Amino acid sequence: PIYRGNLLKNPGWYITGYQEVLTILKDTRFQNRMPLPQTSKKYEQLKNIQNNMMVFKNQPDHKRLRFLVSNVFTPRMVERLRPDIQETVNDLLQQVTHQKSMDVISDFAFPLASLVIAKIVGVPKEDLQQFREWTVSLIQTIDFTRSRKVLDNGNQITIILRNYFKELITKRKENPEDDLISRLIKEEQEGDRLTDEELLATCILIVIAGHETTVNLISNSILTLLNHPHQMKLLKENPTLIEQAVEEFLRYESPTQMLARVASEDIEINQTLIKKGEQVYLLLGAANRDPSQFADAHVLDLTRNPNPHLAFGHGTHFCLGAPLARLEAQIAIQTFLQQIDHPKLLSSDLSWRKLIGFRSLNELQII
Ligand code: HEM
Repeated sequence: PIYRGNLLKNPGWYITGYQEVLTILKDTRFQNRMPLPQTSKKYEQLKNIQNNMMVFKNQPDHKRLRFLVSNVFTPRMVERLRPDIQETVNDLLQQVTHQKSMDVISDFAFPLASLVIAKIVGVPKEDLQQFREWTVSLIQTIDFTRSRKVLDNGNQITIILRNYFKELITKRKENPEDDLISRLIKEEQEGDRLTDEELLATCILIVIAGHETTVNLISNSILTLLNHPHQMKLLKENPTLIEQAVEEFLRYESPTQMLARVASEDIEINQTLIKKGEQVYLLLGAANRDPSQFADAHVLDLTRNPNPHLAFGHGTHFCLGAPLARLEAQIAIQTFLQQIDHPKLLSSDLSWRKLIGFRSLNELQII
């Protein structure tokens, strides 16, 4: 459950056991840090933005930033989006019914996640096409596979995104709307609760987080169903299972596979001493398949209950978008099963993106 490793030049402690991962996520002495070293002078733009994202902050800044955004993503607020999400799902599926094949990602999961998050944040629909390229590049910069080329590219894209959001923020300052940007501007103007840089970084974080992992959850779930026809039949015949089913997809094919922390002091975990300053990598995908926690851990069981998976993390940084991701996935998968008759994989040769932290297909072609 705990071993020292150096996966693709990421030296540190790799934690695969469920209890050990949970213990570390609960212990705030294991801190979040932005992935790029503060000391290096390179990638200034990227570092500035990452440094102001709540996901890489610790107390007290983390609490302050999270509080400012958290009211947008409560289960009650998210539930209000249900009719909109259902309508978007229906429209997208309607558009593919005449096609011979579809790519679940570019025809369905991506436009869905994109339209929903754009509406919440306040990004105009017509700008969304550009966001795909931006988010695909930026997710690589926080993955453990990042290379110089990825970081150079990420730095350039940060400059473009920064200018994009600066312009949008100026527009909303003049004409506020009912969106996250306008709400955060109000916070910024009414007190010293949010700096300009934090406002920018928060918009960028929510847009990236809202796109990437939700797309992976929906596409990985559909792939999992295609590979488990009996479970697909069960879900089709018992639509009320959808909530449990999505929890099982999150466990079985966790969209976020690995998180990182740094020990802020010497800490002993299961008789292993982790020294101050050492890196710790938490393998959520492995913890979610730990046989000492889950019976038949490698079996997909859509009726599994309880299902205390760690796919959204745990503790102070528990995923802020979890209620939204759950709702989008439930509606998308259920409607897909109702409207697409006998879906089949176009090819069994699947292409996965070369990432460690995220489980992400390049495309998912079905007929
Ligand atoms: C944090 C997973 C969707 C926004 C996290 C974390 C995980 C995660 C594991 C914890 C990071 C850590 O502890 O270091 C996922 C998965 C998703 C998903 C698997 C979809 C299936 C979303 C969506 C949004 C979002 C839709 C926004 C709309 C965030 C934010 C944080 C976060 C802002 C940082 C929270 C904090 O630092 O306090 N997510 N996420 N996520 N997620 Fe998600």
